[in-house]
Amino acid sequence: MTDTLNLTPQEREADLNLDQLKQLVGLVEYDEKQDPFPVTGWDAIVFVVGNATQTAHYYQSAWGMELVAYSGPETGNRDHKSFVLKSGSIRFVVNGAVDPDSPLVEHHRRHGDGVVDIALEVPDVDKCVEQAKQAGATVVREAEDITDEHGTIRIAAIATYGETRHTLVDRSRYDGPYLPGYQASSSTIVKREGEPKRLFQALDHIVGNVELGKMDEWVAFYNRVMGFVNMAEFIGDDIATDYSALMSKVVANGNHRVKFPLNEPAPAKKKSQIDEYLEFYRGAGAQHLAVATNDILASVDALRANGVEFLDTPDSYYEDDELRARIGEVRVPVEELKKRGILVDRDEDGYLLQIFTKPLGDRPTVFFELIERHGSLGFGKGNFKALFEAIEREQDRRGNL
Ligand SMILES: [Fe+2]
Repeated sequence: MTDTLNLTPQEREADLNLDQLKQLVGLVEYDEKQDPFPVTGWDAIVFVVGNATQTAHYYQSAWGMELVAYSGPETGNRDHKSFVLKSGSIRFVVNGAVDPDSPLVEHHRRHGDGVVDIALEVPDVDKCVEQAKQAGATVVREAEDITDEHGTIRIAAIATYGETRHTLVDRSRYDGPYLPGYQASSSTIVKREGEPKRLFQALDHIVGNVELGKMDEWVAFYNRVMGFVNMAEFIGDDIATDYSALMSKVVANGNHRVKFPLNEPAPAKKKSQIDEYLEFYRGAGAQHLAVATNDILASVDALRANGVEFLDTPDSYYEDDELRARIGEVRVPVEELKKRGILVDRDEDGYLLQIFTKPLGDRPTVFFELIERHGSLGFGKGNFKALFEAIEREQDRRGNL
């Protein structure tokens, strides 16, 4: 079974090893041959934004990502600009319309800045498409080869929640910087002296917010169509504050590189953060991207210095006896966490450190999480309440609670 646990080319390029990945993202061994829809890992997270030129600059200047490829009018793409950015094994693609009649304009009008495509690397695109069709999924792009001087990519796409899709990519016969049509490019931003080489190494999970009553349908979709397995689940009171509640279940691919918590709002006294998201994104969509770091303190310090804003954690979080007991012994003094607002959660396997940013764009929709795992394969269940109360304070300031 160990033969299926190999580094992806992106991970190899990022100098990651399997032990690091087991720690960073909870990678596990599994038998790929038994999998009806084998997924190797993440390929790219594709955003549509109102201004790709400036968003690409932000991810480089604030988040330390590196520009690796570009497509736009200068390369023959008159519809939109597309910047491909990397940090460790993560690839982000940010697209923004150039042509006023580009379909991206209407997409952006409806949803604002957000994730349109969670592209996955698969060893056999045709096998996945066949399985998806048999299981009743919507294939939005039939399997095809696309070729340029760097080789050939096999690609297809299936629909998931909202207007989000999973592009399925086999790049084993391709050595270009991203996809045919893209040219290699590099950052013009010079890192400041002493700045870490990168602020995060890998992608841990992406949370999807779906409409009330739809969570189980989407869990079943990932089980039935993509052979994903169920992980920890949180229901009802687990994640309820006095005002709002949500339900969440987690699915993962066989090797656990790809983890999708799925949230739906739960009835409560006031509007939950999930309802707020659904209203402003105009439907289901990706809520947060959790990026894994092996030094969350240094990452948070660098990001704050670059102007990235995080949710505040009340001092009471660190002073509360019950919470303090749950935090227990971690790799740094609790004071260091408190100074930075970093949260701790612990379960039978170990602990994790995490922190959440404020929304990245103008609408209160997509945001980031930083996560540093130490054995725990959870998602911060114990922090949900403290976190939601912090989010609610922000919602209240926006007049949306
Ligand atoms: Fe998360």
